[in-house]
Amino acid sequence: MSEHAAAGPIEIWAPDGLPDFRPGDDLAGALARVLGDSPQGLADGDIVVLTSKVLSKVEGRLVPAPTDPEARDVLRRRLIDQETVRVVAQIKRTLITENALGIVQAASGVDGSNVAADEIALLPEDPDGSARALAASLAELTGCRVGVLVTDTMGRAWRTGQTDAAIGAAGVTVLAGYAGMVDAAGNELFVTEIAVGDELAAAADLAKGKTGARPVAVVRGCAHLVTGAATSSGAGELIREAGYDLFRLGTNEALAAGRVEAVPARRSVREFAADPVPPELLEQCVADALTAPAPHHSHPVRFVRVAGPRRTALLDAMAAAWEEDLRADGFSADQRAGRMARGDILRRSPELVLAFICEDAGPHDYPDARRAACEETMFTVAGGAAVQSLLVALAARGLGSCWVGSTIFAAEVCRAELDLPESWRPLGSVAVGYPAAPVPERQPSAAGEYYMSVE
Ligand SMILES: Cc1cc2nc3c(=O)[nH]c(=O)nc-3n(C[C@H](O)[C@H](O)[C@H](O)COP(=O)(O)O)c2cc1C
Repeated sequence: MSEHAAAGPIEIWAPDGLPDFRPGDDLAGALARVLGDSPQGLADGDIVVLTSKVLSKVEGRLVPAPTDPEARDVLRRRLIDQETVRVVAQIKRTLITENALGIVQAASGVDGSNVAADEIALLPEDPDGSARALAASLAELTGCRVGVLVTDTMGRAWRTGQTDAAIGAAGVTVLAGYAGMVDAAGNELFVTEIAVGDELAAAADLAKGKTGARPVAVVRGCAHLVTGAATSSGAGELIREAGYDLFRLGTNEALAAGRVEAVPARRSVREFAADPVPPELLEQCVADALTAPAPHHSHPVRFVRVAGPRRTALLDAMAAAWEEDLRADGFSADQRAGRMARGDILRRSPELVLAFICEDAGPHDYPDARRAACEETMFTVAGGAAVQSLLVALAARGLGSCWVGSTIFAAEVCRAELDLPESWRPLGSVAVGYPAAPVPERQPSAAGEYYMSVE
């Protein structure tokens, strides 16, 4: 396999003398003439690099626009909407979008620069197709086998400033893989794949510039990258597939999506991996859970992590009490064993956290039973909110959990085993650990019959 760098010097020039193109103009004819007449001429193996704006003009991708800045901006935004298939990121007025070609850039390439004050340019519809047609016409008109690159100016994640990149290509390699080659020190280059199409685009812009009315450059010295139209696959190759894109969304958009997904992402997990749960992570999730709403600005919820011999003793005592209840209900020994096996999850999970409502941490005293019962309900639901918050906080950090109600049925045993005061009312326990298998995504469902609106 051969090196992709040029063997000799690379020369780049951008000739003067091209007209300000208008829809329907003969682009290939003008290029053949101006490039052919330039001191360097045009030769086999040259790469013709042209800014996409030229194609926008000759292909009629110009939209008449008002000159009033406000009205112009309204139209610009409408055109961006029209050209956008996905908003990737938005910060203030900067909008990063994906267009129908899969190109991610600012404002879907909708641009008012280098066009008349009463026009706005859209990107060419099929830059690869336009590049192929131009390469074929130039070959016919000049007899030269040249590569063609169509470029646009783009910002880059992580780096300040814009560079030109290839959005259309014909007859030229745009992606050069080094896999299988070794560097000068003998190291094998496994993943290096150079976007030579973008490198050529950026290099050509050093000659073309933005303000000198020189929208086309010729690169000479890279004939090894010129393949002939038949074998090139176009600049589409430079677009990273969404599935491989680690940065598919802007930061704000990714955070927003994460927030929306946090609640449905929680599922009851009943099989756990053996990996330990870092104590500080568990404590952080409990801290998050304690932000749940509670009546009267009170803090009535308590969480207790139970581990080691106390955990075994608690679960043994709860199991004995449960078996007693089942025996009293008339269940046989086999039936009792079958039922009780279901409680095993509390023994299997790497961590176990019990939730309580502390009856003397906030409830108001009422003289009548009705309001006293309502007050108790208020604190119970506040406890439920805190437990759910804990489950969501755990899920958001990749931890699985299952809320198990058994301590509610074994309040006395629970308090006795853990030396807790009479005022602590159990709300169940939460088995916590890293899920043994990936947690299936929950399909969004409609609120449907569970939600009604009364006006
Ligand atoms: C108060 C309460 C008690 C629960 N008790 C148990 C239990 O004893 N055992 C169990 O496996 N799951 C228990 N769950 C979990 C439910 O079975 C689970 O939430 C339900 O099946 C819905 O599944 P999901 O959590 O994956 O959405 C309990 C849930 C709540 C809210």
